[in-house]
Amino acid sequence: MSYLEKKDPLVYEYVQKELARQRNNLEMIASENFVSKAVLEAQGSILTNKYAEGYPGKRYYGGCVNVDVIENIARDRLKELFSAEHVNVQPHSGSQANMAAYMSILEHGDTVLGMDLAHGGHLTHGHPLNFSGKSYKFVSYGVSKDTETIDYENVREIAVATRPKLIVAGASAYPREIDFEKFRDIADEIGAYFMVDMAHIAGLVAANLHMNPIPYADFVTSTTHKTLRGPRGGIVLCKEKFAKALDRNVFPGMQGGPLMHIIAAKAVAFYEALQPEYKEYMLKVKNNAHKLAEALVNKGFRVVSGGTDNHMILLDVKHKFNVTGKDAEHLLDEVGITTNKNMIPFDNEKPFVTSGIRIGTPALTTRGFTISDMEEIADIFYETLKNKEENNNLTKQKARVRKLTEKYPLYLCE
Ligand SMILES: Cc1ncc(COP(=O)(O)O)c(C=O)c1O
Repeated sequence: MSYLEKKDPLVYEYVQKELARQRNNLEMIASENFVSKAVLEAQGSILTNKYAEGYPGKRYYGGCVNVDVIENIARDRLKELFSAEHVNVQPHSGSQANMAAYMSILEHGDTVLGMDLAHGGHLTHGHPLNFSGKSYKFVSYGVSKDTETIDYENVREIAVATRPKLIVAGASAYPREIDFEKFRDIADEIGAYFMVDMAHIAGLVAANLHMNPIPYADFVTSTTHKTLRGPRGGIVLCKEKFAKALDRNVFPGMQGGPLMHIIAAKAVAFYEALQPEYKEYMLKVKNNAHKLAEALVNKGFRVVSGGTDNHMILLDVKHKFNVTGKDAEHLLDEVGITTNKNMIPFDNEKPFVTSGIRIGTPALTTRGFTISDMEEIADIFYETLKNKEENNNLTKQKARVRKLTEKYPLYLCE
């Protein structure tokens, strides 16, 4: 019997139920993944007991001898992974990483140019209810109506007209490669800082499968729990000249004590990402996404921008099936496929309804799914959304999903 089961059977019961859900469903939320047991072990370790405000060698608490070493390991590995000059591994989340980067160069009320949230940008890129939209004056660029990709000339025109102090690139729902060099040129033309939020694509960058933003950006932020396959958390990477400002703005600017158990788990994830097997994994993620997009197009789905260059696909479900993103998410949930409704560019539906869903392959690929499984998955999507009224159809599709999940077991005991 586990300690948790003995001590708190109620919480234990729901952890077990969640394990069963993760095992029995196809996890296709583009921002989710399954961490290794080594990451889990570090995250669940006694390091959670330690207060360590400050930085290695300069703490406000005694007894930091071991956590200092761990934080330095995490920092060194992260620098190596992305060839960064300076890094901070303490932000508790991606949102806090962005906050720390903004605080390092912006004053309240400064103008920032970021990607339109309705075209793929993140909440922290200027949503009016988010700290970003409340603290700074965000203006936005989007994708072009014809290609559904970023039109860099349009970004330049908006930048020249609005003169932002900072330009932010990076997105939560953009399936194409982003050209950071072009963004840098625009920033240089108007004398703006340039930041990249690579939360979604960090794993691809680490595996050299996407342009690395480090040579071009003043600040690069990321989550550690998406393609990077680490614990839930954030990181900031920057040029050496911003190192002091960044560290000061993470602590004491924005946070108190760092989560040392999470920093240890980040260190483990960075180690894993430095291994050749991780590069192979990310290549499979990308190939699976490419194959899945192709298979969905062959089934008549409209894929936003016509395909994908990364790990994610934006599906316009309204186009072929006249179903909203919200309903598609529910139908897919019923057969055991987990996705999320998502606005597509120029969407006429409200954000809680949407015309699209966003899907990704990082979690499936961690389980072992290969390109040979992608046609079956595309067909289950098709049958689920096309024959939604047909008796027993959802039960039939659920059985197909279960067969796939049984083929690739998750978190088996060794
Ligand atoms: C591009 C981008 N930036 C930042 C974040 C924020 O991360 P967190 O949820 O850890 O605050 C996300 C999360 O979805 C994201 O997609």
